[in-house]
Amino acid sequence: MRYLIGVTGASGVAYGHRLIEVLGDRADVILTRDAEEVIRLETDLSAEAFTKGAHAVYRGDDLAAPPSSGSHRFEALIVVPCSGTTLAKIAAGIADTLVSRAAAVALKEGRRMVLVPRETPLSPIALENMLKLSRLGVTILPATPGFYGRPTKVQDLVDFVVARILDHLGVDHVLGTRWEGPPPG
Ligand SMILES: Cc1cc2nc3c(=O)[nH]c(=O)nc-3n(C[C@H](O)[C@H](O)[C@H](O)COP(=O)(O)O)c2cc1C
Repeated sequence: MRYLIGVTGASGVAYGHRLIEVLGDRADVILTRDAEEVIRLETDLSAEAFTKGAHAVYRGDDLAAPPSSGSHRFEALIVVPCSGTTLAKIAAGIADTLVSRAAAVALKEGRRMVLVPRETPLSPIALENMLKLSRLGVTILPATPGFYGRPTKVQDLVDFVVARILDHLGVDHVLGTRWEGPPPG
């Protein structure tokens, strides 16, 4: 069974890239048009390099692609990073991109969904949208890395968030270290 990863045009596409790297051919990926723009702005990767190793890659405007249909099976949809626009569309039931359509399918089919919003501060509208979706069983997992593991590199911060996503999905991984309590003394 594969995981569907939606990458949208929020800052923090590095989180999506790392999740694709870890899941490899267990990942089907959707890139929205604005995600492609942010990938250009935030990384040195082409869209092809960004999605390397994934099982399948779909464009966000390809509403005829398999994830548009409830008959397309996937273990969970992870939208990482999730823009405020896509969050609002999912909360409102608007399905005009392949990511928002896949989310509508996940909701109607009762499939697992994890949204990783990246915005600060959060407006009351975004907070209401998150609360609404949380009450519908969607996991809201904000891109907020912890610092108790004493990160020294940006990659440590990225891995912290991706590790929490993988933990939530029940996928084994070796990213980062787990908190074992404070050091002796
Ligand atoms: C460089 C850049 C960074 C952005 N960062 C964010 C962000 O962190 N969070 C957010 O909600 N939107 C952000 N946006 C705005 C979204 O790209 C915009 O709302 C877009 O409509 C999202 O569409 P999508 O969800 O279909 O990808 C950013 C846009 C650009 C160009």
